[in-house]
Amino acid sequence: MEKLHDAGKVRVIVVSNFSSKKLGDLLSVARVPPAVNQVECHPGWQQTKLHNFCQSTGVHLSAYSPLGSPGNVLKEPIIISIAEKLGKTTGQVALLWNIQMGHSVLPKSTNQERIKKNLDVYDCTIQDDWTIQEIKQARLLRGDFMINPQSVYKTH
Ligand code: A2P
Repeated sequence: MEKLHDAGKVRVIVVSNFSSKKLGDLLSVARVPPAVNQVECHPGWQQTKLHNFCQSTGVHLSAYSPLGSPGNVLKEPIIISIAEKLGKTTGQVALLWNIQMGHSVLPKSTNQERIKKNLDVYDCTIQDDWTIQEIKQARLLRGDFMINPQSVYKTH
């Protein structure tokens, strides 16, 4: 990838599903550091350690499954109560949380109304004391199929 970058064939190098450990290992050898790490991230899997590591190393964190699909993140009482306070949908609250964290989001929707609503989140703010950090954390996509038994990395 660095050779492609040198040749001007790619503008940036990005990675996905890199933990802090894997990202740290990569950064210690990369001549062209990755610009983006795309990982599962939503109020039910907040990736606090990785968020801090990405911030301190200048790697942008991009969230996939930002709505916590296929889990129950949008049914969390804390999310519902914030949605009521802001007059937004629970989906909008989940997206807004990621955006306020400085992450980009890629919500999928085939529904025109929801696509419009998912863009309409920039007129309000989730307050720090609305306890979103207290939501029980659980990873939804375990990714067992991605582990290569021959690799030095034996875990997710
Ligand atoms: P639909 O296509 O019917 O809108 P994720 O991006 O986290 O994987 O979630 C994608 C799923 O979430 C899709 O099934 C999509 O269904 C649904 N979805 C998209 N936007 C919203 C929203 N604002 N609120 C609830 N569900 C949503």
